[in-house]
Amino acid sequence: MRITGKTRLAGIMGWPVAHSRSPALHNFWLDEHGIDGVYLPLAVRPEDLEQALRALPTLGFRGCNLTIPHKQRALSIVDRVEPLARRIGAINTVIVMPDDSLEGRNTDVYGFRENLRECAPEWNPAAGPAVVLGAGGAARAVVMALIDAGVAEIRLVNRTQARAEQVADDLAAPACHLSVHPWARRDALLQDAGLLVNTTSLGMIGEPELEIALSGLPPGAVVADIVYVPLETPLLAAARRRGHRIVDGLGMLLHQGRPGFEAWFGSPVQVTRGLRTAVLTTLAEPR
Ligand code: ATR
Repeated sequence: MRITGKTRLAGIMGWPVAHSRSPALHNFWLDEHGIDGVYLPLAVRPEDLEQALRALPTLGFRGCNLTIPHKQRALSIVDRVEPLARRIGAINTVIVMPDDSLEGRNTDVYGFRENLRECAPEWNPAAGPAVVLGAGGAARAVVMALIDAGVAEIRLVNRTQARAEQVADDLAAPACHLSVHPWARRDALLQDAGLLVNTTSLGMIGEPELEIALSGLPPGAVVADIVYVPLETPLLAAARRRGHRIVDGLGMLLHQGRPGFEAWFGSPVQVTRGLRTAVLTTLAEPR
């Protein structure tokens, strides 16, 4: 990498931010395309978020990504929010516009959809209900993507049922029946499902395992996990052993980065085997 007087800048704001793999992702693309640009980790305390976002145009940044804990708060700071992000209630991408105003977008919906399309091209939204475990920001993006894809029934299951009810209220859509179920019912809800998605942190290294019995899941159902450390979670391993098509969480991370990169650096980018390998290598490094 060579820094010149014209190097374009972007980065990710988080607190902490050292765990983020977004710098590895975006700097891979910058190298691959020979772009004079750099993507930096920006450790921004929650109380400094507004000041940091407002400084982006002043410092010549093209924009930034946002990670924990900034995704919701940032939505109320930026000047404009795309409608999809407003419905989800969170932004993960900020673009500095030509007039120096800040536009907030949510590219997690795009990331989930593109990853599902790539890893499970045969998945048919009409194959059966989708079961979504979890009710955080990631669950909201997944539910929006499934509604957009034309899934007619989504079953939301979360440990804290009230949170799932809030998601169902906020994302209600005429063409999709969103139902909410107690956490204890998760096994039974798989009976006629076409897709199971884990959006909880269960199964991640250092977190408890997701306890769920897949025996009732129809053989053609697709199983997706948004956890990517480890890449093959115990859920995905169990699904693979039963012959299900599995979709890991790394692809969603990689695909969600594409729209931001294209807006900041002006080049379309792809998720390639080389990119997956480069980011996977960083997952093995201590942080
Ligand atoms: P994100 O925005 O990344 O989705 P989040 O809002 O912290 O993150 O959501 C984490 C999800 O994992 C939630 O659905 C959470 O359930 P609660 O809403 O009940 O907190 C779920 N989760 C975390 N630990 C869990 C556990 N031990 N058992 C069941 N669900 C758990």
